Amino acid sequence: MALIEVNDLYKIFGPSPKRAIPMIKKGMSKGEILKKTGCTIAINSATFTIERKETFVVMGLSGSGKSTFIRCLNRLIEPTAGEILIDGQDIMKMDSEKLREVRRYKMSMVFQNFGLLPHRNVVNNVEFGLEISNVDKEERRKKAEDAIKLVGLDGFEESLTSELSGGMQQRVGLARALANDPEILLMDEAFSALDPLIRTQMQDELLELQARLHKTIVFITHDLDEALKLGDRIAILGPDGRVRQIGTPEEILASPADEYVKRFVQNVDRTKVISAGTVGGHAASITYPREDIQAAIRTMERHGTSSVFVTDHDRHLKGVVTIDDAIGLQKKGEKDLGTVINADVYTTSPSTPISDLLATAIETRYPIALVDEEGRFQGAVSRAAIISEVNKGYEGSDVEQPQTLSELQDAQDGEE
Ligand SMILES: Nc1ncnc2c1ncn2[C@@H]1O[C@H](COP(=O)(O)OP(=O)(O)O)[C@@H](O)[C@H]1O
Ligand SMILES: [Mg+2]
Repeated sequence: MALIEVNDLYKIFGPSPKRAIPMIKKGMSKGEILKKTGCTIAINSATFTIERKETFVVMGLSGSGKSTFIRCLNRLIEPTAGEILIDGQDIMKMDSEKLREVRRYKMSMVFQNFGLLPHRNVVNNVEFGLEISNVDKEERRKKAEDAIKLVGLDGFEESLTSELSGGMQQRVGLARALANDPEILLMDEAFSALDPLIRTQMQDELLELQARLHKTIVFITHDLDEALKLGDRIAILGPDGRVRQIGTPEEILASPADEYVKRFVQNVDRTKVISAGTVGGHAASITYPREDIQAAIRTMERHGTSSVFVTDHDRHLKGVVTIDDAIGLQKKGEKDLGTVINADVYTTSPSTPISDLLATAIETRYPIALVDEEGRFQGAVSRAAIISEVNKGYEGSDVEQPQTLSELQDAQDGEE
């Protein structure tokens, strides 16, 4: 069961908002409905699920309904129609007691403008939520201090938040949200007010934090690069409050669902998002010492390749053998291929963006091996695949397509 399930959700602002729903269904536009009824469509028939422990990004331009959506999740805004299930429980049916419990223990919110109390110090801000939940003094201090450590603010416990930089203030906001150890973090443009450098740093820290804490994060942004960087999946909202596409960053870049999404993503450098594992894939390998030269040659012939990867019986990569070396050895009457295994092979994780592999692709004579964290062979990505993927980014653009590898790399470097 998904942690959050949203079914046919509508939020319409204005007088007797429900009457706008049949008009939407008839195909009337947001503007027409506003003119006719004075109602503003903020969310238009949203349906999707958010899985446990994923970072789900909701992306859209200003006014597309992002803040409205995230506030519907904890009913800070009352939805007009539809269903929101959290852990299978319909939050629309909860009484105020139950709802308060969900807001206190199940989910916490981080706001764009930090939402801190300026005359309180850091630790008092962080423990504020626990205080209103009547957590006793000792326990809330302990929890607040743990959360402050998590966001790297230890040493600043006694500082006034009004004296801190923007990045540090948002750390306090994050610590406050984490203090009650909620399962769900709701982050509404949490980094949008920060300077670009601080913002990038906060994004990196959120990724690190998430790798340790495994929260379910609903992250709102109007910034596509931020969405692509943070999201396991992204929902793109259109200007009409409709969800245009939901998918992984790669899915959205590789196959935008409509013209709107396409226009959105066309200026993104796909090579920074598309991973080696997506471009590459299965590659032939043999097991050493179980298999001999004969097996190596046969495998290369069968796959039409001039080299083959060699692993041990546990799939740990040992290296690569070329067809020339194998045939040379065979002519000498050898069977064991140990002496011709070339260990000088580039390896990378399947999740490496291909932009990081371009320099290697230019240098290497063999495909780049994909290995997991334990060094086990997963497949490979060829030079040709990397180069053709990088070149795709030039299709339909005015920039002249590089013709050689070094031109390609110059073009990429120039973009930095
Ligand atoms: N309280 C409100 N009353 C009337 N209209 C609202 C209210 N809040 C938001 N809206 C309208 O709903 C739409 C979505 O707003 P919002 O959710 O704030 O978008 P975003 O967060 O994506 O910028 C906008 O057209 C906005 O003007
Ligand atoms: Mg907003």
